[in-house]
Amino acid sequence: MSSSSSPPPFVFTCFLMIILLLTLNPPTTGNTTTTTHRQPRQLSVNYYAKTCPQLEQLVGSVTSQQFKEAPVSGPATIRLFFHDCFVEGCDGSILISTAPGSKVFAEKDSPDNKNLRAEGFEIINKAKSLVESKCPGGVVSCADILAIAARDFVHLAGGPNYQVKKGRWDGKISMATRVPPNIPRANSTIDQLIKIFKSKGLTIEDLVILSGAHTIGFAHCEQFVNRLYDFHGTKQPDPTIDPRLLKALKMSCPHYGGNADIVAPFDVTTPFLFDHAYYANLQGKLGLLASDQALVLDPRTKSLVQELGKDKQKFFQAFAVAMDKMGSIGVKRGKKHGERRKDCSFHM
Ligand code: HEM
Repeated sequence: MSSSSSPPPFVFTCFLMIILLLTLNPPTTGNTTTTTHRQPRQLSVNYYAKTCPQLEQLVGSVTSQQFKEAPVSGPATIRLFFHDCFVEGCDGSILISTAPGSKVFAEKDSPDNKNLRAEGFEIINKAKSLVESKCPGGVVSCADILAIAARDFVHLAGGPNYQVKKGRWDGKISMATRVPPNIPRANSTIDQLIKIFKSKGLTIEDLVILSGAHTIGFAHCEQFVNRLYDFHGTKQPDPTIDPRLLKALKMSCPHYGGNADIVAPFDVTTPFLFDHAYYANLQGKLGLLASDQALVLDPRTKSLVQELGKDKQKFFQAFAVAMDKMGSIGVKRGKKHGERRKDCSFHM
């Protein structure tokens, strides 16, 4: 457990070796709109005690197998859960595919979701098939399976284990146009981040704590390339990037004409380990996105970054609580607003 603010130089060599080539989902289009935060309905840990008591084991068998075969499934699924909850609430609406021939694109086809990795969707579909084979008839919602899988991957990657409350129904609305105002961007200002989180019933503290998920996973060059060459139109790099990280990132991500599939790890030291290194990294100018680094530059968020960087247990406890809170956003119940899909990709 290290709270030092700067990693040894060999880390940068490792970092270069870790750069990966990944295939992307095809991009499509979407327009802006707004959504409102709904009060959480009652969820419970034992929701499926009678109807599908083995649910967590079933999902767990898929997530643990997948984690061994493709560890990127972990960050992919955790991010998928975040993108589900922030648009229309945690209702599985991110999992819906655009209907063939339809001009109304589903959330998943919004440009803001184009980099959601296919592995996340595949995991949920696999888990859903298994659950349907044992507890048939759409008893268990896709939204609950996603919440359980996200928790599994946090734990499998070395993070906290926590109980997932269940009882979410799947939403009937999935529109690409509803995504942009609700999903924060890599270049969002701290004011914008706070505003979006607040609109979901989440606090400034929740913003800092949930951003700690960036202790694992990767981002594409396009998400931070401006920081490397032309920060805020200055034609200079962002002065808040460590020079060694800057050099390494520039080698992977040229200003123009680079490979659009190249990604860099959020956490240069332990990109597959769910720990609290994210916060120490921010203090050492090793944040990857401007929105990450901003957390240590703003007085409203800086002290919590410092606290969490020092105390892994505190981060783990706070993260579990914040995930529960995020998992309660806009929860739906009943046939009026919801459904329980047998196939997560298609409405009933
Ligand atoms: C605070 C505002 C946030 C912003 C601006 C943000 C932005 C981003 C961006 C731009 C990427 C890289 C996408 C790519 O290039 O492939 C990313 C990845 C990721 N985000 Fe966030 N994010 C935020 C909050 C969160 C939260 C709350 C979570 C979960 C609790 C989360 C989990 C992840 C994970 C795990 C990845 C890595 C995905 C992968 O490697 O496949 N993020 N985020």
